[in-house]
Amino acid sequence: MFPTYLCFVASAVLLLGCQQHPLCRRWPAVAELTPKMAAEREADVRALSEEGFGGENMVKEPPAKVNYPEPVADAQAPTDEAETGQTTDEAVAQVDPDVASNADLAKAEADEKARVAAKAEAAKQAKDAAREEAKRAREEERKKRREAQLATAKIYNARCSTCHGSRGRGDGPATARLTPKPQDFGDPKWQKSVSNRYIENVIVKGGVSVGKSPLMPPHPDLKKNAAELRRYVRRFRK
Ligand code: HEC
Repeated sequence: MFPTYLCFVASAVLLLGCQQHPLCRRWPAVAELTPKMAAEREADVRALSEEGFGGENMVKEPPAKVNYPEPVADAQAPTDEAETGQTTDEAVAQVDPDVASNADLAKAEADEKARVAAKAEAAKQAKDAAREEAKRAREEERKKRREAQLATAKIYNARCSTCHGSRGRGDGPATARLTPKPQDFGDPKWQKSVSNRYIENVIVKGGVSVGKSPLMPPHPDLKKNAAELRRYVRRFRK
């Protein structure tokens, strides 16, 4: 166990200090013991503070007082209103009445954005409408062509196929009696050798008008269909 006498020694050291080291001699309880000790302690403290508590880096002087401007010193940033009694907008308007306020600028920006968006939307709609219209026109055109072809096919079948054949091969039921036989419209060589005008002329004015057989009759009533019939004849090309 811990010997009793050590307890006395420890208490004494705590109370009196060792009195050998400056730190111990500065022990307040000890300093009170004798005037001599107190004087020694005071001398120690003075010596230490003169040395700067043992540090080259020890700051001996208190920091110089800096005279900050008042608003900074009291951490208050100045405001327009505090200084002038005016808001920023008012101050700007006073300097130049033509300069728009922030509110005006924000509104102008919003207006401009809305205007641009509306314009883009209108352009898109116009484009869509134009595309739609073009598509409709194309379909209309196709439909017209189909109808014209159908009408022409009907004319051909009723007025030409007996001699020229329904497929334009020159092999219609009436050809048995015909000399010379009608041309095969499928022959590319023949197709190449004749002009559109020639074909239309034969149809409307008959074989004689182009120096051909009178057995190819004129069809003056089909003058307005001549172009369509000529196209029909062209489509037989193989
Ligand atoms: C009665 C019979 C007959 C009918 C109907 C007839 N053709 Fe012809 N067609 C002929 C004969 C025959 C020839 C050939 C004449 C020749 O080669 O001298 C001919 C020639 C033609 C030629 C010129 C061919 C070539 O060799 O240059 C064309 C084009 C033609 N016929 C188109 C038509 C069309 C289109 C119709 C209907 C609207 C029609 N023909 C009705 C008998 C007919």
